Amino acid sequence: MPGLTIGDTIPDLQVQTTHGNFKLHDFFSGSWTILFSHPGDFTPVCTTELGKMAKFSEEFSRRGVKLLGLSCDDLNSHEEWIKDIEAYTPGAKVNYPIISDPTREIIKQLNMVDPAEKDSNGTPLPSRALHIVGPDLTIMLSFLYPASTGRNMEEVVRVLESLQKASKYKVATPADWKPGDPVVISPSVSNEEANTMFPQGFQTVDLPSKKDYLRFTQVA
Ligand code: BEZ
Repeated sequence: MPGLTIGDTIPDLQVQTTHGNFKLHDFFSGSWTILFSHPGDFTPVCTTELGKMAKFSEEFSRRGVKLLGLSCDDLNSHEEWIKDIEAYTPGAKVNYPIISDPTREIIKQLNMVDPAEKDSNGTPLPSRALHIVGPDLTIMLSFLYPASTGRNMEEVVRVLESLQKASKYKVATPADWKPGDPVVISPSVSNEEANTMFPQGFQTVDLPSKKDYLRFTQVA
């Protein structure tokens, strides 16, 4: 069976976290959520990533987004590790919950297992996976990075903004798009519809094919 991917509903798993036990749907429902996993507590790259996520937590809450971390180790270990994370990244407050998954059942069901990484007992470890889940509990985007590559939190903000724009307007974001740049109008929108949908106007790029599919506009 293929693993959980974009378009799927996040499973309603019961999880234990540093902020208590809950079901994922209770936590996720009605808001955007970023769920991100880490290979293990007290490891170098993970320590930098969780600190950076904490530094960005205001950016995310301004955009109506909740954060939920995951690392397999137990909750006592997470609590101790948070002290290191906050000490390493000045100004960072780890105010989001971190799931503990000692049996690895959660990471299996969330498609967050790294097939190449095992602990000293041969038990699978999580990859650096990240799911952005929409308010309707659908996975909108997934990253899957190996243990050796830390994620770029500015990229996480960038793709989140792209997803939020596409959920609000019939638009998409082109290569290297950054927040504030023009967006492209979806091919499903005719020029007549675009005139009504985008009263601010749009520019059509003149291409050799003379097909008018590359149309730029600005949206808030
Ligand atoms: C790290 O976070 O640095 C790390 C974790 C597991 C394997 C390799 C690196």
